[in-house]
Amino acid sequence: MSLIRDTEKYLNNIISDLGYEEEVSLISSSVPSLGKFQINVAMSMAKKYHKNPIDIANEIISKLDNRFVNVNIAGPGFINLSFSDNIICNYMNDCMNNFNSHVDKDEGKTIVIDYGGANAAKALHVGHMRSANIGESIKRIAKLYGNSVIGDVHLGDLGRQAGMLISEYMLMEPNSLFFDENYLGDYPKINLTTKDLGVMYPRASISASNDDERMKLVREITKEVEEGRRGYSELWRQMVEISKSDIKSVYDRLNCDFDVWYGEMDSIKYIPDTLNVLRPYLYESDGAMVMDIKEEDDKKEYPPLMVIKSDGSSKYETRDLATIYMRMKEFNPDEIWYVIDNRQEFNFLQVFRGAYKSGLVPKSCKLDFLGFGTINGIDGKPFKTRDGSVMPLNDLIELIKNEITKKVKEDLPDRDNVIENLTICTLKYADLFSYRKTDYIFDPAKFSSFDGKTGPYIMYTLVRGKSILRNNDSIKYNIDYVDDNIRNIYTKIIELSSELYKSYINKSPNILCEYIYNLCNLYNKFYNDINISNERDLNKKNNYLSLTKLVCNTISNVLNLLAIKEVDRM
Ligand code: ARG
Repeated sequence: MSLIRDTEKYLNNIISDLGYEEEVSLISSSVPSLGKFQINVAMSMAKKYHKNPIDIANEIISKLDNRFVNVNIAGPGFINLSFSDNIICNYMNDCMNNFNSHVDKDEGKTIVIDYGGANAAKALHVGHMRSANIGESIKRIAKLYGNSVIGDVHLGDLGRQAGMLISEYMLMEPNSLFFDENYLGDYPKINLTTKDLGVMYPRASISASNDDERMKLVREITKEVEEGRRGYSELWRQMVEISKSDIKSVYDRLNCDFDVWYGEMDSIKYIPDTLNVLRPYLYESDGAMVMDIKEEDDKKEYPPLMVIKSDGSSKYETRDLATIYMRMKEFNPDEIWYVIDNRQEFNFLQVFRGAYKSGLVPKSCKLDFLGFGTINGIDGKPFKTRDGSVMPLNDLIELIKNEITKKVKEDLPDRDNVIENLTICTLKYADLFSYRKTDYIFDPAKFSSFDGKTGPYIMYTLVRGKSILRNNDSIKYNIDYVDDNIRNIYTKIIELSSELYKSYINKSPNILCEYIYNLCNLYNKFYNDINISNERDLNKKNNYLSLTKLVCNTISNVLNLLAIKEVDRM
């Protein structure tokens, strides 16, 4: 249990022994010179029990034992207090050896996280990176708190691109068995690479936009793939497999590790069952099947949710409803989180309403849309390539890689690997740093600076700490001493449990980014003020090294929650 939670329990007991009922929160002090922490219950209790808050505060502090020092009452009844050195040292040793000391575990739910969302046979773009980074981090945080979490990439493997690519293949190999409707045997393996697909797709797309017949064919094929026409489905399945290996390699680079690799195509087989559940609420409108999802006090217009188009095919929303059906059946989750671009929020509000109204999910299952904002260029508009198309993720990574390469010493051992890890660290830290719902401006030079709120700054601090530890490697780490050079760092470490919990409850990794930045600042100040290696008092030196170990372990563990890999030298 964290020190904060443990102390809150202790304080709650005191309050109930005094005959009151109130939940205490121990928070960081707004005036650290008066005490590192404070509790503000005296004021709310005074109201509740019609007493003087100062009297209540005095009652409480009269019961406190020697775990606290410098206890005092300020203003109308704020109780300020600090932990004794003994308590601090014990807790710091715990934290050094076990990161779980910061974690007050939850009851343990089953949560599916839908993130990633790359589209088969198309390049990942910057929006896919946000989903990947945020999703992976909140998944790791939720796991840390004892939930059983399933990350699903939910591949966009159905849609126009199937028709595009198959129609293009038809031009290349018109006599292929895939197009013979009477053929019943096994199909050959196609001989295409992801590069080929990358050339075929734009070629098809340009042709289709200039030629109505071609567009008609693309639509027809797309529909038949969905309906399961054998040759088309098999050809498309092979194309998806080819592009999946490419998609996987990008997600590997971003340290994203999905538990399942389902896609929209996997949901297709559940559409009939899903429609059975929706049936009582469906009605026909202009040949399409729709469902009303209005609710009484709606402030904006909720048009009916279209489930089946007039040509009989499904919509994006239908496949998401079928995916919900599939997830309930396979995982029976307590919650499903969707890490998706803000611009799709309304689609999902519709889907969620449809799912609850029809009973596809019970009210007890929480469907949560975790939207994210846009990555903009310096001009404040969505980040684009020079020719105005959406920025492919690989190009974005290269932009950062160029900046980082300039900064890493030529003769550094394992240089390529360091550059790669630093590049990804730079990108991910910058991406996770702003609150997920807000847009941010992508500035490669700023993000890759070794100073400021950047990934390289954090990594540099860690590398510096690791290097001191390497040079003094024969000590037994133990913390048994606190002085004013390090007290602030220990207070910061005590605060981690609250920050971690906030990042978990709000699904906001940015809180952790801010936290390690502040921790690094405090450590760097200490490092600049004190010459650790030359400290002559051996016990002091040992404590400073142990503090360094503690800070390094903390940074490493938080980086791991952000899915950022560390380096040893830079
Ligand atoms: N493939 C979609 C896109 O690129 C994102 C998928 C999001 N997840 C979902 N369940 N629809 O926009």
